[in-house]
Amino acid sequence: MGPPCFFDAMNKVFIQTYGCQMNVADSDEMFAHLAARGAVLTDNLDEADTVLINTCTVRDHAEHRAVSFLGRLNAWKKEKPGRVIIFAGCAAQRLGKSLQKKYPFLDILSGAKDIEHFSDTLNASGLFGAPGASGQQPAPGLTGYVTIMRGCNFACSYCIVPSVRGPIKCLDSHDILQEAARKAAAGAKEIMLLGQTVNAYQNGPVTFADLLNRVSEVPGVERVRFTSPHPIYFTPEFLNAVKENPKIARHVHLPVQSGSSKVLQEMKRGYTREVFLEKIRALKECGFNISTDIIVGFPTETEDDFQQTLTLVDEAKFFIAYCYKYSPRQGTPAAQMEQLSQKVLEERLDILLNKVRGLSDTAYQAQVGTVQEVLLETENKGRSSSNFWVKTKNSYPVGSIVRVEIEKADGTLLFARD
Ligand code: SAH
Ligand code: SF4
Ligand code: F3S
Repeated sequence: MGPPCFFDAMNKVFIQTYGCQMNVADSDEMFAHLAARGAVLTDNLDEADTVLINTCTVRDHAEHRAVSFLGRLNAWKKEKPGRVIIFAGCAAQRLGKSLQKKYPFLDILSGAKDIEHFSDTLNASGLFGAPGASGQQPAPGLTGYVTIMRGCNFACSYCIVPSVRGPIKCLDSHDILQEAARKAAAGAKEIMLLGQTVNAYQNGPVTFADLLNRVSEVPGVERVRFTSPHPIYFTPEFLNAVKENPKIARHVHLPVQSGSSKVLQEMKRGYTREVFLEKIRALKECGFNISTDIIVGFPTETEDDFQQTLTLVDEAKFFIAYCYKYSPRQGTPAAQMEQLSQKVLEERLDILLNKVRGLSDTAYQAQVGTVQEVLLETENKGRSSSNFWVKTKNSYPVGSIVRVEIEKADGTLLFARD
């Protein structure tokens, strides 16, 4: 036997993240605390010493996937003594201690509301050393995710997020700018600002528009994106404040949920079909390309309501629409209502999916002949400001921005004349 290998002494962490981009950012944050205790990342479960599962509970299916992954780790844990399992995030928050009863091999439970105390949770477990200063953090890649707010103050009647994430907390704008600068210094060219209703950001005098403009001025930042906004905060003042700034990417993911004003009211979304259409008209006028989320089969959705969702899709000309079957979440008002049958949900989802299938191709075709700035993610492929994938003929340094004319579209890829 040779001398002990240095790497064998290291704690290798395998991370499995479910859910939205906020969860991706939270996983990075949790890993930073593990890294400060000497841990390194691995993408190989077999060689891992610790597994961090960061979970989602927005729909039953998402929660189910995370919990069944946990179930499968029982055998993994038995293979090597000292292995550690951390179950974190939104499903951890919802299910709480009941999980530890059902899965006694689970070592650390850390709900989404506890993310800010994750370091204390690690200390209290006694399973990791004290934090040192030399934690190696993963490089951000071209896009640096920066959380600007946690929680949600809405109470959409179908949604579990406010109960597992708690009320809104807007982070300090100086801390946000510092984090953006740190990510840019580590190589990020694009900063993605994150929050469940990200454009509701307000901290003292600093508005969301101020923050976008300030982040875009951070040295090294070429482009700023954000997700997920809520329609009601897209005001004319907001658009006036950002429309002259080309670094603010011209794409928004703006969930509509339904095309029926009646259902929108029952969902407690705070806008009507007409208001939504007006918001996207104004956004498109400033060059924004719009994608969305739609729920089918909300308990009170009639055939006529569903038809209105279909006509809204025609009118709005979305770039992409992610469609979901309504999933009852325990404790939410809509879960108490009389439910539609699974058959109705499946039929409506099928019809809607057929309708939205061609949307992206159409949007890609409409780009032919335009001139776009492409941020290269490989030597010859990148994304335009409005989030279309573009392939260039020539090679350029990864991370550079090239201005190109779009020659043709093939499915969901644009080809540049450069
Ligand atoms: N904060 C964002 C959405 C966060 S949840 C917003 O308000 O726009 C992400 C998406 O999951 C939602 O846009 C919605 O389409 C979907 N979703 C949320 N709860 C759901 C449920 N109970 N059943 C099905 N889809 C749901
Ligand atoms: Fe859920 Fe509504 Fe909050 Fe979005 S705004 S997270 S859908 S409660
Ligand atoms: Fe899921 Fe939590 Fe995000 S429930 S969608 S991971 S906020």
